Amino acid sequence: MENFEAVVLFFLACIGVFGTNSAMGAAAAASPPAIFILGDSTVDVGTNNFLPGSNARADFPRNGVDFLYSRPTGRFSNGFNTADQLAVLMGHNRSPDPFFLLRKKPRGFTKSKFRGVNFASGGSGVFDLTVQTKVSFFKSSDELNNSSSSSPISKKNGVSLSEQIHQLSYVYRKILAVRKQHGTRDLLSKSLFFISIGANDLFVHYHSKSKQPKEKFIASLVQAYEKHLRNLLKLGARKFGIATVAPIGCCPSQRLFNQTLGCLEELNDLALAFHPRVAQLMYKLSSEYHDMKFSIGNTFLITINVINHPNRFGFKDGRGACCGQGALNAQTPCTPTANLCPIRDDYLFWDLLHPTQKAAQLAAVTLYSGPPFFVAPINFKQLAEA
Ligand SMILES: *[C@@H]1O[C@H](CO)[C@@H](O)[C@H](O)[C@H]1NC(C)=O
Ligand SMILES: *[C@@H]1O[C@H](CO)[C@@H](O)[C@H](O)[C@H]1NC(C)=O
Ligand SMILES: *[C@@H]1O[C@H](CO)[C@@H](O)[C@H](O)[C@H]1NC(C)=O
Repeated sequence: MENFEAVVLFFLACIGVFGTNSAMGAAAAASPPAIFILGDSTVDVGTNNFLPGSNARADFPRNGVDFLYSRPTGRFSNGFNTADQLAVLMGHNRSPDPFFLLRKKPRGFTKSKFRGVNFASGGSGVFDLTVQTKVSFFKSSDELNNSSSSSPISKKNGVSLSEQIHQLSYVYRKILAVRKQHGTRDLLSKSLFFISIGANDLFVHYHSKSKQPKEKFIASLVQAYEKHLRNLLKLGARKFGIATVAPIGCCPSQRLFNQTLGCLEELNDLALAFHPRVAQLMYKLSSEYHDMKFSIGNTFLITINVINHPNRFGFKDGRGACCGQGALNAQTPCTPTANLCPIRDDYLFWDLLHPTQKAAQLAAVTLYSGPPFFVAPINFKQLAEA
């Protein structure tokens, strides 16, 4: 393991160098014409701000405390999330804006400087039902309070992956009207589709105490994932950057379900089982679509090493949340009145479920330029250049 850590740290050092000269960084970066981001709260940059009934929102302090002007943007982070960090590595300033925001702007999808769309929505999963399923993921004092679960279901909690792809087809039609068939196909086939999803499905499966055996559950999850990917392929997507699920049993909120505050192993086992099945799926799809290219990041491996040895990566705390309350600072979400750690970079976890900006950067750098052990068959940089 020592070697891999050295590799990761080495890449981090590179970022430091490029970060000081953004013009040079942009010129050197492998930059796809546009980046489309789909998934859950790990890559959401404010989609749910547009959903008044959502309880998966982060557009209030202390979120964003290290963002420009300390602005809470809807990111579940103190600053940039993994989508932003990847976009930066590819020569952008940050993630493209949320679909709902771009849709309000005239020519939001058709201006010449169009750089992509972020559809990701906190709470969403591979399964359509996941985003509307109410199971308590964390142990809090008001866990037994029914008031939120009795809110009308018509209030949208988040945008399911099916719906995100539906929104992409709306974007497709807007682009088609301007760029015509050839231009649209050209744009989409060269653009990067970054997908980070699955954690919420695993949370729901575990915490709903489903009786479905692990293998069966994972198989049906991957089957649903396949349906989504085929819809993306039909719309002309050809470059896929996939992040599978991190060791979510080690999120501060999940440790509270373990009496010793160790990781929740059953949840980690689900994440472990998910990755190879998704990888298998990608190889299968690419054998059908010969012009398809993909890169699949083993988010589990990328993260578990940091969780087990936070100090080696410069973190002082790899267990608790920077922002929150109670045990491990993880009994409540990050709110305006929660405890806030003074040095965010000391923490792996920002809140009860999400990484800090620094941890997200570490993950993004590894996806972008890491070795095949972490990201295969090619890394995101090679994917962008392919
Ligand atoms: C339940 O939630 C409501 C509204 O958030 C709050 O007023 C009430 O005190 C809570 N009850 C308990 C038992 O926590
Ligand atoms: C929650 O709601 C269910 C039915 O809606 C009810 O049976 C149960 O007693 C409630 N629990 C609490 C703690 O209020
Ligand atoms: C709780 O953590 C301990 C120590 O890491 C681990 O051995 C055990 O399997 C965990 N328990 C559960 C229920 O995951």
